[in-house]
Amino acid sequence: MLMRVAFCFSVFTSLILTTTAHTQTCRCSKYTFPNKEVFATCRDLPHSPSFLHWTYQPATGNLDIAFRHSGIENPTNTWVAWAINPNNNLIQAMPGAQALVAIPAQSCGAVMRGYTCSISSYNTVLEESNISYPYSNLMVTFQNNEVTIFATLTLPKCTTSLVHLWQSGSVSDSVPEVHDMASANLNSKEILHLVSPPT
Ligand SMILES: *[C@@H]1O[C@H](CO)[C@@H](O)[C@H](O)[C@H]1NC(C)=O
Repeated sequence: MLMRVAFCFSVFTSLILTTTAHTQTCRCSKYTFPNKEVFATCRDLPHSPSFLHWTYQPATGNLDIAFRHSGIENPTNTWVAWAINPNNNLIQAMPGAQALVAIPAQSCGAVMRGYTCSISSYNTVLEESNISYPYSNLMVTFQNNEVTIFATLTLPKCTTSLVHLWQSGSVSDSVPEVHDMASANLNSKEILHLVSPPT
C-alpha cells in the first residue's frame, strides 16, 4: 500500500487531508476502463490532466499501457501523444522520442485513430513513421472528453525505468501543430519507474 501511494502523484492537498491511511491518493486507481481492462499499476501524471496505466513484465519487456488525457473539448482538432525517449534524456526528451499519437480519424466510425512516430527533431509535425519498439494492439478511444491510447510495447528485457513524455495540441488540416510552450507543457516529462518506486 505504501508503495502504491508513493507511486501516485498527489494532486489535491485537500484530498490527502481528507483521506486516511488506507485510501489511495491517486485518482487513476479509481478509474474503471469501459472495456474492463485492468492494469497492475497507474500514475497520475504531473502538469497535465493525464494518467498512465500499465502492466509490465521485466522478463519479457512486454509493457501494456493505457495513456489517458482528459479535458479534451474538441477531438476533431486535437492531437495527443505519449512517448518514450530511448536515449533516457530527460533534459531534451522530445528529439528521438518514440511516440504513440492520436489524431482525428478521417474515416467515419472512430473519432480518433492512433499511429506511431519516431520524433526526429523539435520541428516535427508528428509525421507517421516506424518506432524502434515492437508494438501491437495500438488503439485510441475518445469518451467523456478523454482520449485514451492503448498499446503493447516490447522494451529491452529487464528495463526497469524509462524517460516518458506526454503532450497535446491542435490539429490544422489534419496536421498536428506545435504544442503550447507553457511551462506545464515543457515539463510534461519524467522518469517512470516501471517496476518499483525509487528508493
Ligand atoms: C515501416 O517499416 C516498414 C518495413 O521496413 C516499411 O515498409 C514501411 O514503409 C515503414 N513505414 C513508415 C511509415 O515509414
